[in-house]
Amino acid sequence: MLSLPLLAAALALPAFAASSLTAQELLANDALAQILADGAPILGIDGGCDRSVNTCDWMRNFPDSTKLVHMNLPGTHDSATWNYTQATQDSLIRYTGTDLPPAEIFQCQDRSLFDALNLGIRVFDLRFAYNPGNDTLGFHHSQALLAPDTTVEDVWFGFYNWLDQHPTEAVLVSLNYEGGTGTPRDLKLEQHIYNIMTSPLAQRYWVQTSGSLGTLGEARGKLTFLQRYDYEFLPATESNRIGIQLSPEQWTDNTPIIQILYNAYDGPNCDYYEMDGLPIGSGYAENIQWKFNATTAHIENATLFNPDQLYISFASAEHDEDVPPETPRIIALGNGTDTPGMNQKLLPWLQERKGKRFGIIMLDFFASVPGLVEAVIGL
Ligand SMILES: *[C@@H]1O[C@H](CO)[C@@H](O)[C@H](O)[C@H]1NC(C)=O
Ligand SMILES: *[C@@H]1O[C@H](CO)[C@@H](O)[C@H](O)[C@H]1NC(C)=O
Ligand SMILES: *[C@@H]1O[C@H](CO)[C@@H](O)[C@H](O)[C@H]1NC(C)=O
Ligand SMILES: *[C@@H]1O[C@H](CO)[C@@H](O)[C@H](O)[C@H]1NC(C)=O
Ligand SMILES: *[C@@H]1O[C@H](CO)[C@@H](O)[C@H](O)[C@H]1NC(C)=O
Repeated sequence: MLSLPLLAAALALPAFAASSLTAQELLANDALAQILADGAPILGIDGGCDRSVNTCDWMRNFPDSTKLVHMNLPGTHDSATWNYTQATQDSLIRYTGTDLPPAEIFQCQDRSLFDALNLGIRVFDLRFAYNPGNDTLGFHHSQALLAPDTTVEDVWFGFYNWLDQHPTEAVLVSLNYEGGTGTPRDLKLEQHIYNIMTSPLAQRYWVQTSGSLGTLGEARGKLTFLQRYDYEFLPATESNRIGIQLSPEQWTDNTPIIQILYNAYDGPNCDYYEMDGLPIGSGYAENIQWKFNATTAHIENATLFNPDQLYISFASAEHDEDVPPETPRIIALGNGTDTPGMNQKLLPWLQERKGKRFGIIMLDFFASVPGLVEAVIGL
């Protein structure tokens, strides 16, 4: 009997609260809700994070003066592929046709961007190209179109809104232009992404420094840009640049050691994602061991050398030319208890080196191995 009036009161509350907002605030709230709904196929739904969990807002415990290059930052590789299941691929064949490898070759994650943020991930690897219609910009992984109606702008709004609620946190966004999607690359596309990155809104939410990475204090509540594409058509007068530029010209494809000069620093990266040195038929245990060796050799160097350089190590890989092929999931998680994947092997390796500088480590299927994010951060 009592619960009915209480329920009615609870339901009435939002309307009462809404009436205290100005028309402008109501309009802004509604517009944001609409944008977040449009962004959901890439962003997911923000369920919030449990502040008693140590990876929620973990950066609040680090001093402002900490240099970003001295930190250990867990990231996700091909972050936007989390919902690219076979059902998703099948639902998009009217855009892509049926001449595509299976979805499992493209899917590298199973947690949305919001879930990843709430679980402590602070670096995102996103790849843009035109959406169907060659008008709006959206997200792809190679031939895989990920969400035809979600735009780059929608997803940036999602990050901005999350950062407003987590002002102690700093988030790095790496953006590639994705080739091989069958969509055109032209001046209109480059002008569009340039306009997004230089708008007054972007100036508020992206760290505006160019050519170097600063301190955590400077990056809190903001996005830091890792630009992994070059402008090929944009006029030279459009010259505002932010973040650091990791040119695809210098990012040698599928290489264990890549050195990129982005300023006074020489940034070493390890992005060896397909173990093409191995004979066909080597099997997943051998592929995982090769990848583990290459990755840990690189991270080991991050613990030893060049403390003021940015180290990026990709723990992610696949080997689709092997017979049978290794999917990103097999490399990350292995196959049952007898063959551990990269993530299970990295966990104790990182834990044994707790307190050392690892730099950025980009992961696939990070949440399937509990404690991995903490081990990267060094918590
Ligand atoms: C994930 O994909 C399925 C189809 O495969 C779709 O029904 C669902 O809405 C997608 N999730 C989001 C958050 O977009
Ligand atoms: C988009 O570009 C592709 C590749 O150039 C072309 O085949 C397609 O017709 C274009 N679509 C539209 C709607 O212009
Ligand atoms: C990986 O490194 C270990 C330790 O150095 C070595 O024993 C092993 O042969 C290497 N395996 C591969 C596949 O490279
Ligand atoms: C590690 O550093 C040493 C010394 O600079 C260098 O010779 C080696 O190539 C580096 N290895 C990796 C995997 O980065
Ligand atoms: C994983 O292991 C199971 C059982 O040992 C086997 O049937 C399956 O083929 C393996 N998967 C791959 C991708 O090799």
